[in-house]
Amino acid sequence: MEKLVFIVDDEKAISKLLTYWVKDKWKYRVEVFDKGDDVLRRLSAGPDIVLLDIMLPDINGVEVLKKIKQFDENIPVIMLSAQGSVEVAIEAIRQGAFDYFPKPIDTQRLEPAIKNAIKNYDLHKELRLMKENAKKEFSFDNIISADKKMQDVFKLVTKVLDNDITVLIHGESGTGKELIARAIHYNGIRKEKPFVIVNCASIPRELLESELFGHEKGAFTGAYQRKIGKFELAKDGTIFLDEIGDLQMSLQAKILRVIQQKELERVGGSETIKTDVRIISATNVDLKNAVEKKEFREDLFYRLNSFPITLPPLRERRSDILVLVDHFVEVFNNKLNKNIKGFTKRALKLIYEYDWPGNIRELENTIERCIILSESNMIDIEELPTHIKMTAGNPSISINGPIFSDDAQIIPFDKLKEEAIRHALKVTNGNIVEASKKLQIGRATFYRFLEKYKITTNEF
Ligand SMILES: Nc1ncnc2c1ncn2[C@@H]1O[C@H](COP(=O)(O)OP(=O)(O)OP(=O)(O)O)[C@@H](O)[C@H]1O
Ligand SMILES: [Mg+2]
Repeated sequence: MEKLVFIVDDEKAISKLLTYWVKDKWKYRVEVFDKGDDVLRRLSAGPDIVLLDIMLPDINGVEVLKKIKQFDENIPVIMLSAQGSVEVAIEAIRQGAFDYFPKPIDTQRLEPAIKNAIKNYDLHKELRLMKENAKKEFSFDNIISADKKMQDVFKLVTKVLDNDITVLIHGESGTGKELIARAIHYNGIRKEKPFVIVNCASIPRELLESELFGHEKGAFTGAYQRKIGKFELAKDGTIFLDEIGDLQMSLQAKILRVIQQKELERVGGSETIKTDVRIISATNVDLKNAVEKKEFREDLFYRLNSFPITLPPLRERRSDILVLVDHFVEVFNNKLNKNIKGFTKRALKLIYEYDWPGNIRELENTIERCIILSESNMIDIEELPTHIKMTAGNPSISINGPIFSDDAQIIPFDKLKEEAIRHALKVTNGNIVEASKKLQIGRATFYRFLEKYKITTNEF
C-alpha cells in the first residue's frame, strides 16, 4: 500500500523541500501541517512516518512527539530542528524519536533514515498482525460447540482468565484439551507472554528433566551447550504440561517446587533461577487413580487440580457432531481449495450414530479425508470410512455397537483381535506407541500382530 508521510513544519521552504523528496521522488502520499495540534488530530489516518519540526508555533515538537508516542509508540518520528543543540537531540531520542536532523537538512542522510524507519515500522506492523491472527485463532470463536455441557465448560474457562489459578484439564484424547489451554492463555492476562507446550508422554524420560528445567554445559554426556528449559522459556507466560500422568516421581517433586517457590535449577547447575509461570496441565487418564496407586504425588495432584475442567467426550455431546461437521467442511474446503457442499442425509445419520472414540480429532481427520477423496460435491455413504459404515451395517463386528449380545453372530477370536488392532490404529492415526498402550499390550506383541494380519500403519 502507498505510504503516508506527515510533514510538520511551519517553515514553508522546508516543508516544500521535503514534500518534493517524499512525494515527487518516491511517490509517497504526503500531508503537510504547520501546527502540532492539527497533526495530533489526524493521527488516526495512520501515518507511516512523521517528520516533525521542534519549533512549532503552538506546542513544542517534543510535546507533540510524546503525544504521538502515547497514541502508538511504534509510529516512527524523525525530528528536525534549527537549534542544533545536543540537549534537544538527546531529549528527542529519549522520548522515542527514531532519528534527529539539524537544519539545514542533509537530504542525502535523511533519505536512508526515512526509508529505514518505514521499513522497521512495516516489520512491526506485520508482527502485530501475526500476533493478532494467532490470538484470533485461539479465541473462543474458534471453539465450536452448541452443547450445553460445553457451554458450562466455557463458563468455567471465563472464570480463570483474569487470574493465575492452576488448571487441570481432564478429557479423553481428541476432546480439545490443547485448544482449551490455548484459549485460556490467549484470552488471559498473560496473553502477551509466551505459551509453551511440553508433552510429558512423547519426550523420552531421560530427556524430560532437561527439557523442562534446562541444563548446564557438561551436565551429562552430550550436553555440549547450556540449554534453557521450557519453564524458563515460559517465564511470565503459561506452560502447558500435556499428559501430566506420565511424569516420573522425581520430576513431580521438582515441579512442585516451581509451583510453591517459583524457582528451579538447571540440570547440573547450582544457580537458582526465578521463574513465574502459570501452569495448565492436561490428562487423559484418571490421575486420582494414579494417586491411589502411589504413582502420582498427592500434594502435586491437588496443586495442579486447583481448578479442574472436564471436557466431555464427543459421544456425550452428540448435538455437537453435526455442528462440527459443518465447521470442518468449511475449514477444509478453504484449506484444500475445494467446494464440497457437505454430506447427504444418509451419511450424516451414520456420522451422527458413530461413537467417535477418537473424539473431535477423529471427526476432523475423517472429514478432511472425505473432502480430499470426494469426487462429487455431496459426500454419500460410500465415501465414508469402512468402520463408520460398519457401525450401522454390521453391528456384531462394530467395536462401538454391542459386540456380545445373545443373538449376535459369534465372531472368530482372531477376527476380533484383528479388528481391535485396526481400530486402535485408526483412532490413534497409526501411532503404534499409543495404540499398543491403549490396547494394553507390549509393542513387540503389537508388531507381531501387524505382521500376522498383514496390516501396515500407512493405511491409517
Ligand atoms: N470445540 C471444537 N471446535 C473446533 N475444533 C475443535 C474443537 N475441539 C477440538 N477441536 C479440534 O480437534 C483437534 C483435537 O483437539 P486438541 O488437540 O485440542 O485435543 P486434545 O484433547 O489435546 O487431544 P489429544 O489428547 O489427542 O492430544 C484439534 O485439531 C482441534 O483444533
Ligand atoms: Mg493434546
